[in-house]
Amino acid sequence: MGATKSAGFYTAELPDYFPAMNPPDLIRQNIPLAPQTTIRLGGSARYYAECTSVDEIRACLQWAASTDRTVQVLGGGSNVLFADAGFDGLVLKIALRGLEFIGETVIAAAGEDWDSFVAACVEHGLAGVECLSGIPGLVGATPIQNVGAYGQEVQDTIVEVQAVDRQNLQEVVFSAAQCDFAYRQSRFKAADRDRYMITAVTYRLDASGLPQIRYPELRRQIGERLNSLNLGQPALTAVRETVLQLRRGKSMLVDSEDTNARSVGSFFLNPIITTEAFAKLQQQHPDIPSFPADNNVKVPAGWLVENAGFAKGFVQGGAGISEHHALALVNRGGTMADILALAGEIQNAVKKIFNIRLEREPVLIGETT
Ligand code: EPU
Repeated sequence: MGATKSAGFYTAELPDYFPAMNPPDLIRQNIPLAPQTTIRLGGSARYYAECTSVDEIRACLQWAASTDRTVQVLGGGSNVLFADAGFDGLVLKIALRGLEFIGETVIAAAGEDWDSFVAACVEHGLAGVECLSGIPGLVGATPIQNVGAYGQEVQDTIVEVQAVDRQNLQEVVFSAAQCDFAYRQSRFKAADRDRYMITAVTYRLDASGLPQIRYPELRRQIGERLNSLNLGQPALTAVRETVLQLRRGKSMLVDSEDTNARSVGSFFLNPIITTEAFAKLQQQHPDIPSFPADNNVKVPAGWLVENAGFAKGFVQGGAGISEHHALALVNRGGTMADILALAGEIQNAVKKIFNIRLEREPVLIGETT
C-alpha cells in the first residue's frame, strides 16, 4: 500500500477489505473487561479485538462503521473505568509492537508497554523519561493525557504522533506542536476526543544521560546518591529505581499482590485555581499545600480529599481509598457503581468545604445507571 506525505499528513489508498456485515476473524464476542483493567471492575465487551497492525485496525473500524457499532479503544486499562453493564460496541485493544532506536530518537509502537519502553531508554543511556518509570499502561496512551510524574511530562520528549483517523481510516502524523499539550491534556482528549487511534509515538531523548530531578520529593530521596554517580546510564538507573521505590510506597505500581494497587492511579486531577482564589482559601485553611502552575496555583487533590473527611484507608461498601495515597480510589471487592458513588461523595464534600470542583481523571465508558 503506497503512502504519500503531504502538508504533515500521510494519505494512503485504502485496500479492499471484506463484505461489510462479516466481522473480521479477529473479532470475538462477550469478553470480560475487568481483567483488562488495573482496577479490575466493569462488565463485558459485546465485541472485542486485539489489533497488531494498522490494517487490522482499519478492518475493525470499517466493520464497526458498516454495522453502526461504537468503538472504544483500550490500551493498558490503567486509566479507564468500564461500567458494570459493560460495553455494547467493539472494544479495540491496541497490540501493535515495535521499538526502534535511531540515535536519540526512539519510535515506539502504541502497544508497547510504557515502563518497558522507559527501561529500554535508561538502558541506552537516554535521558528524558526516567522519572516516568513505573507508570502503568501503553505507549500509545501517553500523548492522550500528556502523562506526567515527578517533574517530567511526555510533551517534553514527544516529536511526533502517528494515528489513524477514525473518520476516513487514513494515517495522520501530528507534530508535538499540533498535539496541543497541557497538564494532563491534549487535542486527543479535547477537541479531537475519540477521533484518532494512536499507532506510534516518536520521542527525542537526550544522549548526554543527564537525569532531570525537579520534583522535591525525588530530589530529597536521591540527592546525595546522585553526586557519587557518573552521568549516563548509572545515574538514569538510580533515578529510575528511586522513582519505582517511591511509587511502590504509594501503591502506584501495578502489582497483583498489592490490594491498594487495584486502582486507576490518581482518580482526580489536581485542580488549578487563580492566585486570588488560593489566597482566600489559605485564609480559611492555613495548612493547605500548593504548587506553582504558570501564573496560577495547583492544589493537591489528595490533600483536599483527606481534608474533606476521606482518610487513607477509608472504606465504603466495596470501594475505598488507598491506605497509601488519598487520590487513589481502590476496588475493595465491590462494583464500579460503588467506586462512582464514593467518587461522587468526595466531589460533593470537597465542593462544599473548599468550593472546588474535583474533576475525574480516568475515562468512564458505558452506561452507569
Ligand atoms: N497529598 C496528601 N495526601 C495524600 C497524597 C498527597 O495530602 O494522600 C498531598 C501532599 O501535600 C503531597 C501532594 O499531595 O505533597 C502531592 O502528592 P504526590 O507527590 O503523591 O503527587 P500527586 O499530586 O497526588 C501527581 C500525579 C501522579 C504522579 C505524582 C508524582 C496528578 C493527577 N497525579 O500526584 O500521577 O505520579 O504527581 O509526580 O497529577 C496519575 O496520574 O494517575 C498519577 C499517579
